Amino acid sequence: MFALNLLTLAFAASATVALPAAKRDLAPSCNLLGGGAFDTAKNFTLAAWNTTLPNANTTGVPLVLGQAGAISGAEFKVLSTFASYPFNQYPSMSLESGRLIPHGTNVAPAKAGTVPDGSEPGFITSNSVDPEQGAQIYCAVADIDPAGHGTGHPFLAVNGDTDLFSLCKDGSQNNIVFKPTSGKSYDLSSCYAVKVQLIYDF
Ligand SMILES: *[C@@H]1O[C@H](CO)[C@@H](O)[C@H](O)[C@H]1NC(C)=O
Ligand SMILES: *[C@@H]1O[C@H](CO)[C@@H](O)[C@H](O)[C@H]1NC(C)=O
Ligand SMILES: *[C@@H]1O[C@H](CO)[C@@H](O)[C@H](O)[C@H]1NC(C)=O
Repeated sequence: MFALNLLTLAFAASATVALPAAKRDLAPSCNLLGGGAFDTAKNFTLAAWNTTLPNANTTGVPLVLGQAGAISGAEFKVLSTFASYPFNQYPSMSLESGRLIPHGTNVAPAKAGTVPDGSEPGFITSNSVDPEQGAQIYCAVADIDPAGHGTGHPFLAVNGDTDLFSLCKDGSQNNIVFKPTSGKSYDLSSCYAVKVQLIYDF
């Protein structure tokens, strides 16, 4: 916990203090997300933190790349709770200039897709995709609230918002959805709001 807080502070510091020296514009996906926003990070995992009920801990439930169908030569992946999809072929993530990139060994590269309202943030995995060409729509926001109301972990934003994620039942999986709506493959009545956190557990 202590180490994680230090890490968070380090991000907050680099985002706010280091601006004049290391002048690099953040990816547009970080626009309007404040002083704690950063667009590049290495070696983290994602977890869903329930915003409505008390959580067992401040980390929340671990997320992995869950299956979402396949076409010839490619598979689709979404963010599923490990509890509902107990496989973890892409055990770490990075964020590169606003692109979310899953990493694993002996697996096909994964490229992030766009995330329209009502959809499940996802990836296409195939030996013919380039993760560096994924949708540049993600950002991370460090917890720099001086009153300490956060969880100590940075929140993931997509399309400029950290507050529009839910976990919804889709078949046997519990998947992350952006702005859930009716008429999709998930069960809308099962959805509850979460924030998606970056967890540095290495
Ligand atoms: C999160 O909260 C919802 C109710 O708001 C509850 O149904 C669900 O079980 C909770 N999930 C976890 C993982 O705590
Ligand atoms: C936090 O609680 C969730 C259950 O809500 C569990 O799946 C997860 O492993 C716990 N994480 C830690 C770091 O204890
Ligand atoms: C992530 O952390 C693990 C454990 O420390 C390390 O083995 C691995 O090389 C790191 N990966 C990257 C991409 O930095």
